[in-house]
Amino acid sequence: MKVDVLLGLQWGDEGKGKVVDVLTPRYDVVARFQGGPNAGHTLEFEGHKYVLRSIPSGIFQHGQVNIIGNGVVLDPVLFREEAESLERSGIDLRSMLKISKKVHLILPTHRLLDAANERAKGGAKIGTTGKGIGPTYTDKISRNGLRLGDTLHNFREKYAAARNRHLVLLHAMGEDPDLTELEQRWLDAVEYIHTFDIIDSEHYINRALRDGKSVLCEGAQGTMLDIDFGSYPFVTSSNTITAGACSGLGVAPNKIGEVYGIFKAYCTRVGSGPFPTELFDETGKAIRDKGHEYGAVTGRERRCGWIDLVALRYAIMINGVSQLIMMKSDVLDDFDSIKACVAYKVEGETVTDFPYSIDEGSIEPIYVELPGWKTDMTAMKSTDEFPKEFIDYITFLERELMTPITIVSIGPDREQTIFRNSPLLKQ
Ligand code: GDP
Ligand code: IMO
Ligand code: MG
Repeated sequence: MKVDVLLGLQWGDEGKGKVVDVLTPRYDVVARFQGGPNAGHTLEFEGHKYVLRSIPSGIFQHGQVNIIGNGVVLDPVLFREEAESLERSGIDLRSMLKISKKVHLILPTHRLLDAANERAKGGAKIGTTGKGIGPTYTDKISRNGLRLGDTLHNFREKYAAARNRHLVLLHAMGEDPDLTELEQRWLDAVEYIHTFDIIDSEHYINRALRDGKSVLCEGAQGTMLDIDFGSYPFVTSSNTITAGACSGLGVAPNKIGEVYGIFKAYCTRVGSGPFPTELFDETGKAIRDKGHEYGAVTGRERRCGWIDLVALRYAIMINGVSQLIMMKSDVLDDFDSIKACVAYKVEGETVTDFPYSIDEGSIEPIYVELPGWKTDMTAMKSTDEFPKEFIDYITFLERELMTPITIVSIGPDREQTIFRNSPLLKQ
């Protein structure tokens, strides 16, 4: 059996949580492979809304095993909050969820270091989610991290050693935090995680594949936030791309099957960093209002702009995307016309390959303008109901991106999802 991967192609918040939930009935296992509680994956069904941070989005269907893979960084305190809130809503999390022994733990001091690093950067700050992601992955790569498996024995001493190392750094940055309360909550939360099924997830997943089980890997963040290929340094600290599923779960590259690349019909970004198609005008505001573009984790305003096909082509290439999923097209339902950036003008030259740097100022998007469909699509049930202008928009995108669009999302609810038989699939 193969492993399918679903990941974001833009700057995150494309709607991954919603679609993982929709696709879950087709799979036996759903697994998160990177990121941590910087993610906020929203699901809506039967009048309820849930936001997941570290727990995979396959927990609301029936019978699937959900795995938090080794590539994830886990904050015990936030995990506990999330798990307890789900259990209060009646979700039998313990029967479904397994956690890799190799996840790296986010310590209270990692969060403090994240904040201190941001303060030190001043105007050049990344605008992180403040969840300690960068410092935790830094410790992982510098071989100083604390893994969940390490906490199964004598973890208080291991914790104290890591904390003391962080305190030296914090003191050097002029910070002198009182950790007493944070620390106690963290230690209690680690004991709480020990009541879950902590496994060697790489063995579990590969055994599942050998037994003919199907696996869906859920990405967090998006390709433009990838540590290698995103708009560095305004990125997150993990590999958000398909290769991240291999290293973040222990599945070999030749086990990867379908790669679902998910994108919004426009584009958003939270935090700092370049965004060539960003709109600072009324249109940008209209997209933000209609699309409720405010962060699921931080509540911050998301920056909004037109779809960027230069960046999308790059993301499709890096990830080996085999199917595209277009989200939030309903947000554009009222627009007279819609723009799509097909190339950049970089210092007077037209460029279609995503360049090394996309720093504002030197990049000017070149747009194609298409007529809007001016139709409320949110109650539609099949592609037969799609207005002509919308079909033209999809056909245009497929031609530009040379990849089939097989799912279209027309609202936040699970039911507002239309599967599409793309002509490109037959080729
Ligand atoms: P994720 O991080 O990729 O899972 O995405 P988020 O949950 O952070 O952000 C996506 C937001 O858009 C959430 O509030 C969803 O409920 C909402 N959403 C998802 N799909 C659609 C859609 O097709 N239309 C509209 N209007 N909202 C959507
Ligand atoms: P989901 O999974 C959108 C952004 C932050 C910041 C940068 C680095 O919901 O799509 P970090 O805290 O990771 O060090 O922040 O990355 N960022 C996200 N933006 N969606 C996310 O996750 C994000 N996770 C991180 O805003 O610019
Ligand atoms: Mg999100």
